[in-house]
Amino acid sequence: MSNVQKPVIREIGDGDCDDICRLNNAENSPMSKNDPRHPYNAAARLIEESHDPQSKGRGWFAVAGGKIAGIITTENFGGGIIVDPEFRGQGIAGHLIRAREDFLRAQGQTTTQVHILAGNTASIHAFTKAGYAFDKKSADTLAAHGGDRAQVPQNTVLVMERSLGAPASSAPRQSPRKAAPATPKTP
Ligand SMILES: CC(C)(COP(=O)(O)OP(=O)(O)OC[C@H]1O[C@@H](n2cnc3c(N)ncnc32)[C@H](O)[C@@H]1OP(=O)(O)O)[C@@H](O)C(=O)NCCC(=O)NCCS
Repeated sequence: MSNVQKPVIREIGDGDCDDICRLNNAENSPMSKNDPRHPYNAAARLIEESHDPQSKGRGWFAVAGGKIAGIITTENFGGGIIVDPEFRGQGIAGHLIRAREDFLRAQGQTTTQVHILAGNTASIHAFTKAGYAFDKKSADTLAAHGGDRAQVPQNTVLVMERSLGAPASSAPRQSPRKAAPATPKTP
């Protein structure tokens, strides 16, 4: 699959409610609008939490050709990733996945997990391309079906995970003694 355009990734904030709702197809949600999980309410909460430095509630948009092409959120908002159908198959998911990982790593998290229905081939492919692998339980479920995901009941929730490596803050700091010597000033 060709990656035709590299999107710009930006954090979600004020004024983004309509685009979050559009990508989540909030208009057609079967949930009651009083339900806090309704996409309208979840979008409002996401924007509110994005202002709170103590909260891990964050979301990012991928912008391609000036249009909002996709969204990813942290796990407290379902960890969902959605790419607008117009932009699918261009590798946009991978850029969104990395944006969330960068945030989690900066928060000190060393691994991340996502929950995906067994029948969601596009999502499983996108996360596999991004370096995720099934956790032990999901790998066992697949093995019990002869390694053929098509044989697993399609609404089974599978878990994929990836190591995020060392938190950025624990990266070794350069010793001041190893810093390049100052150039002597010429009079
Ligand atoms: C899952 C999803 C986010 C992937 O986004 P994406 O940017 O299209 O991802 P990629 O371009 O990396 O493509 C991933 C896979 O999608 C499939 N795909 C390719 N072109 C496609 C198209 N035009 N339309 C739909 N799916 C396509 C392919 O299987 C591809 O895998 P491959 O590269 O190994 O062939 C997107 O399909 C989507 O929004 N789906 C609906 C919401 C959803 O299911 N979210 C995940 C919940 S866990």
